[in-house]
Amino acid sequence: GGSRVDAVRGRILSFTRRPEGPGDHAGLLHIQDGAVRIVDGRIAAVGEASTILPTLPPGAVIDHHPDAIVTAGFIDTHIHFPQTQVIASYGTQLLDWLERYTFVEEQRFADAGHAARTARFFLDELLRNGTTTAVVYGSVHPGSADALFAEAERRGAGMIAGKVMMDRHAPDALRDRADTAYADSKALIERWHGRGRQRYAVTPRFAITSTEAQLEAAGALLREHPGVHMQTHLSENPDEIATVRRLFPDDASYTAVYDRFGLLGPRSLFGHCIHLDEAEMRLLSESGSVASLCPTSNLFMGSGLFDLERLEDPARPVRTALATDVGGGTSYSMLRTAAEAYKVIQLRGRNLPALRALHWLTLGNAEALGLADEIGSLAPGRYADLVVLDARATPAMAHRMETIGDRLEDELFVLLTLGDDRAVAATYLQGTRAHSRGG
Ligand code: GUN
Ligand code: ZN
Repeated sequence: GGSRVDAVRGRILSFTRRPEGPGDHAGLLHIQDGAVRIVDGRIAAVGEASTILPTLPPGAVIDHHPDAIVTAGFIDTHIHFPQTQVIASYGTQLLDWLERYTFVEEQRFADAGHAARTARFFLDELLRNGTTTAVVYGSVHPGSADALFAEAERRGAGMIAGKVMMDRHAPDALRDRADTAYADSKALIERWHGRGRQRYAVTPRFAITSTEAQLEAAGALLREHPGVHMQTHLSENPDEIATVRRLFPDDASYTAVYDRFGLLGPRSLFGHCIHLDEAEMRLLSESGSVASLCPTSNLFMGSGLFDLERLEDPARPVRTALATDVGGGTSYSMLRTAAEAYKVIQLRGRNLPALRALHWLTLGNAEALGLADEIGSLAPGRYADLVVLDARATPAMAHRMETIGDRLEDELFVLLTLGDDRAVAATYLQGTRAHSRGG
């Protein structure tokens, strides 16, 4: 394990609310030489280093990152733990990609040893990229969720995860049943939900791979366990949507299928949401559901362009989040994910300001998960899950920074556009050093 620190010193950056555009600094905490004081894994105080440091006991351990930005650990709202060896699979769009690559690879998670080894790699990789909380799909095997939760618990990370429910249109070895999916998910909820920092997400993969009986079971799990999340995929690819319409001919839309089974709500996370019509956006808005933008995946798979502006129409705003969707997505880095989100929004004729993007990776995603009182900002009482960012991490970044100096938003835009795991100088989980660049 890493070593525990009493304070982290550097340039403090954190949000109290969403920036409404470039230059909106009212919801921004920015302290040039600041410090975060940590007691029992939580943030005890944030302020000027000259104020915080004298309050520390003698012999306190202080990690000093001069010139680096200290902010809340990144949050990834949609990622597949059994797809670490699917990422970068050539040449297909969604339905063929699932069949040719994903449904082959996920079968290996029947083996508990493979699941445990992959969980270690997966957590290492998230932490190298500054991600301290993720919302994670397991495979159909309950043991995959056990492996992920056990590894997260061992490291002090808070994960939201679930075993995938899928009882049709998949290989025999990857199919459960409505009743076994219900029983296995229920047992996982009882074992993991609310144990330390871990939380459960009921996880019907998508409407194509669940029978009506299984979607019914997913709805029952949510009703019977009010604190758990729900995650699934929605409106990612035209062939997928046509298949859903064929399988559920009596429902008005793809979103209406999930609505019929009680799967919409403020703890429900829908990956992709690219091709929704007006009525579907209204269903998401009225239920408080969250649409996750997965830009590296949507571009890699040729799925389409998330329409942020339309989703956020003030007449019926849909809550949004940002996510990698590895292994459909092509990077574990939330910095690279933000860079691709910027490009997707450009292709829709709009901009994503740097402050808004950094807010999204931290407090915005925390709010989307309903966890803003625990994670996503540097404020007393939050878990001391921190990331330290270096905008001069590579020669190209340092060279670009020569012309930027201390202009904050331009620096953040360099970080978000050129940054990746190399820009993550350190990651802390509950005040314990969980990753440090260069070992
Ligand atoms: N739709 C159903 N399953 C998946 C998956 O594993 N990845 C993506 N991107 N879309 C899906
Ligand atoms: Zn996905």
